[in-house]
Amino acid sequence: MELQLNQESLEKTDRYISALLAPEDDALQAVVQSLTEAGMPQISVSANQGKFLQMLAVLCNARRILELGTLGGYSTIWMARGLPDDGTLVSIELDPDYAAVAQKNIARAGVSSRVDIRVGNALKLLPELIRAGELPFDMIFIDADKPPLTEYFHLALQLSRPGTLIVADNVIREGKVLDPDSPDEKVQGVQRFNQMLAGDSRVTATILQTVGVKEWDGMALAVVKYLDKSN
Ligand code: SAH
Ligand code: DHB
Ligand code: MG
Repeated sequence: MELQLNQESLEKTDRYISALLAPEDDALQAVVQSLTEAGMPQISVSANQGKFLQMLAVLCNARRILELGTLGGYSTIWMARGLPDDGTLVSIELDPDYAAVAQKNIARAGVSSRVDIRVGNALKLLPELIRAGELPFDMIFIDADKPPLTEYFHLALQLSRPGTLIVADNVIREGKVLDPDSPDEKVQGVQRFNQMLAGDSRVTATILQTVGVKEWDGMALAVVKYLDKSN
């Protein structure tokens, strides 16, 4: 058998892995369908990425997860299924129509009791959570709009404790992060974030490249070591 590294073989291999280890049940398949029906973008994490996030939740012993960017609830469902029955996942979504689609999908997946969708701009809702004295989260998944990724990270730190895992999606963008002259504001947002992350001694961080059924991209993983009063 001839093996070649190309997009087609990467997709095939991704599907091989997900068929084995991240099969979608009816509820997850229904999310994909619901996005098409509602004319929403197909930018959810892939099945294998969803399983990876679920594993991270389990690895963190997470009881409290925060997500920025719900879309149709696909990643929400994968992570919520990694929580204990009395766990909590707060997911923030700007678009009320998207949040309504997600709410239905989350109910179909049987995890409504663990998921709390908040509708609004994360840049406004996060400071409100901080001011209200929200307990720290064990894991935070940042997957909303990309230009303010650095600001989201700094807000996330204020909702963290030492040991909290912060994950940020889409930080490689088909390798466009290597172009210092990119005019793309999403690329600029993740370039600024990656640079900031490299210099923040409060966290231990790395970036994993991701390939497969979604476009070539990457996820940043950062574990909080300590927090000081300057954040
Ligand atoms: N995490 C989802 C995909 C999220 S797509 C999954 O993998 O299944 C990004 C989402 O962020 C979109 O639904 C978009 O409406 C939302 N979003 C964009 N800007 C936002 C903001 N400022 N605050 C909260 N959500 C935002
Ligand atoms: C985009 C956003 C995402 O969260 C993603 O996973 C892929 C693409 C985007 O806005 O282009
Ligand atoms: Mg994403």
